[in-house]
This record gives sequence, structure tokens and C-alpha cells, in this order.
Amino acid sequence: MSTMKAVLLDRSHQPPALRLTEEYPRPHLVPGKLLVKVKAFAVNHADVMTRKGSGAKGPAPIADIIGIELIGLVVGVSSELERARDVSEQRTGPQGARYRSGDIVAGVMGGLGRFCNGSYSEYALLDPDCVSAPLPVGDAAQISTSTLISLAAIPATFLAAYGVLVTSLQIQPEDTLLVHGASSSIGMATASLAKHLYNVKKVVGTTRDAGKAARLKTAGFDEVLVRPHQDDSSIEEQAKSIKEAAEEMAGFTAQVDLIGADHIPVALACARSPGGARVCQAGMLAGAYFCTEPFSPMAIPVGVYLCGYSSSFADHLNPLRELVTAVLQKKLPTNVDKVFRIEDVPQAHEYYERSTRCGKVVCLID
Ligand SMILES: NC(=O)c1ccc[n+]([C@@H]2O[C@H](COP(=O)([O-])OP(=O)(O)OC[C@H]3O[C@@H](n4cnc5c(N)ncnc54)[C@H](OP(=O)(O)O)[C@@H]3O)[C@@H](O)[C@H]2O)c1
Repeated sequence: MSTMKAVLLDRSHQPPALRLTEEYPRPHLVPGKLLVKVKAFAVNHADVMTRKGSGAKGPAPIADIIGIELIGLVVGVSSELERARDVSEQRTGPQGARYRSGDIVAGVMGGLGRFCNGSYSEYALLDPDCVSAPLPVGDAAQISTSTLISLAAIPATFLAAYGVLVTSLQIQPEDTLLVHGASSSIGMATASLAKHLYNVKKVVGTTRDAGKAARLKTAGFDEVLVRPHQDDSSIEEQAKSIKEAAEEMAGFTAQVDLIGADHIPVALACARSPGGARVCQAGMLAGAYFCTEPFSPMAIPVGVYLCGYSSSFADHLNPLRELVTAVLQKKLPTNVDKVFRIEDVPQAHEYYERSTRCGKVVCLID
């Protein structure tokens, strides 16, 4: 039996612990699947929550190997898949993409790392519905480490940011955008896309840590507002400084809230009203998926539109080609904070959880 390096989620510990092994059975190609040699992956909020045994609502994850996204080299395409797939080179989405051994692809979604083994390993067996079309990176054999690091920072984070900005908020250059939770990976990616790809007039973000301002401006924020630490302050106190900035701008026309359901009133108070402002609730950094206090839709100001975004919808992978192209053309920063190797995943998780981290944490595999 051939084996591979993998980082296992050992559930015999409470909370579960990450454990490196070199003896996990290497998956082999089965009908309908792609076999991918993992080159790099990023650490995500979801991985940390799974490791801690907490997470979004729904059934408990069961995979041995966590990791919700990867960049990898296709090393096997099942014959069923080859026959079933549309040959068109024009298709950029996962449906209909044609794969060959040697393609560089991104893997994300489809229960990856939760209900089937994920990316913290040398090889992954993937359902084509969670694999991007081959990425436009030229000769895979020539791909540089720095390109792999940039690519690894894109899939889950930039696709979510794209979904929030483009699909949900329908962002426009004349918008004034406020991101609550600016220093999160998705917050930074949102600013990078808004400023560098969609030329949004004004991009403002909130953080609890003034020390991150310079880094956030590099990502694409024009202005950074420092708000009080949530644990020590009421919603009203948190809203105060943000609302002052909102008043200067006569209310923001677009907002992304990544703090959580209980923070929605703050975002609504910062919206331009009336005037077609949009607020997208897309994260739960403070832990609240549901509102603690009863929330009435009548509390939504006149002419303000409140929506959500979840990356689990079908066309989710389609924008990857555009995003990767922009990154390779150096039009879009990927906001990588630190790079580790797979052998150091426990340290990567420890670093990820530091409050001073600002950006993506990427792991490389030989
Ligand atoms: N909608 C979707 O499709 C989608 C997809 C993926 C993830 N998400 C969600 O989006 C959110 C962001 O994910 P991420 O991976 O980008 O996060 P992340 O990088 O782990 O965010 C870390 C930052 O969040 C801020 N933060 C942490 N706890 C906080 C709290 N209690 N209140 C306010 N800010 C807090 C801190 O910033 P400061 O200390 O600088 O304030 C921290 O540096 C998560 O809730 C994640 O579950 C949504």
C-alpha cells in the first residue's frame, strides 16, 4: 500500500488535535473523480473551527483530513469523467471543464475537509464539482513557488469576496463601501477586489487593532476606522465612531458585515437612507449566526436592502479564471501574511489564531 504525508484531525483529543503522519493511505483514482497532487493550501477560519470542534450549524464534520481548499496538479482523471465531460475549451466553470494530467487546478467546496478528506495532505481525491477549470498559469512544470503561494490565497477567500461584492452587493465604481471586519482574510480580499478590480470610489474598513492600518491600506482600504473591542463594549459604543464616519459620507451605499448577526443593527445604522444602499451579511467573526435579540425586518431603514451571501451556490467557482488572471498580471494583491510547510501545520494554526495576524496563512507541500 502506498502512503502519503497528511495532517490528521485526531478526535481522540478534546478539543481535537492536528497530527502529522507519513503513513496515511494514498488515495487512488476511482470512477467519476480526479486525483490531485496538492501543491499548496491556505488555512481558513473554518479549519480552525473544525479543529476546535465548533462550527456553523449542520452535521458534525467527519473527514480525517481537514482543509477546505487547495491548489494542485491533476495526476489522474477517471475515464468516466473524461467521457462525460464537454470538450469545449471556452467553458471556465467546473461544469464542463476538461481536465488533463498536468493541469493546475483549485479545489474548494463540496464538503472538502469536512465530509470528505480535504487539502492538508500530499494527494486529494476530488469530485469534479469542487474543482475549478484548469487555471491559466502556463506550463505547470515551470510554476514558481511565489506563484503557488499567491494562487493558494485565492480560492475560498477571493471567491467569497467576489460573491459578496459582485453577486450580492452588485458593487459599482461610484459606491462608498464599508467593510466591518476589515482585517479578516475575506475583508482584505473584498477591499483588494473593490479597489484594484472594480475601481470603487471609497473603501473603508473597521478593525479593533490600529496596528493593522498600514497593512489594510496596502490591501486596498482608503481609510481604516478603529472600533472598540466587542467584548468590552455595547453595540451602541461600537457603532458610535463608525456612524460618525458614515455621517461624513452621508451614509455608506454598500456594506459587508463579517462580524455576525448581532452586528446587523450597526451596519444598518451606517447605510445611506433612503438611496438604494445595500448591506450584505456574510460572516460571523463574533460567533453569532442568529440574532440574540429579536430582529424585525421593519428595523431595516427605508430604501436599504439587506442580503446575505453563502459560498455554497452552484456557479461559485466560475470567477476563478478572472481572479487568477488579475493576480498573475499583478493587478490584485493576495494579502499573504505568512507561509509554512505542511510539516508545520500546527504552528500555522497557532499563528493563524494570533490577533496580530493580518492576511492569509499559506502552507506549501513539496
Ligand atoms: N459567506 C461566505 O461565503 C463565507 C465564506 C468563508 C468564510 N466566511 C466567514 O467570514 C468570516 C471571515 O472569515 P476569515 O477566514 O476571512 O476570517 P479571519 O481571517 O480568521 O479573521 C480574523 C480577524 O477577524 C477579526 N475578529 C475576530 N474575532 C472578532 C470578533 N469577536 N469581533 C470582531 N472582529 C473579530 C479580527 O480582526 P481585528 O482584531 O483586527 O478586529 C481578526 O484578526 C468568518 O466568520 C467566516 O466564517 C463566510
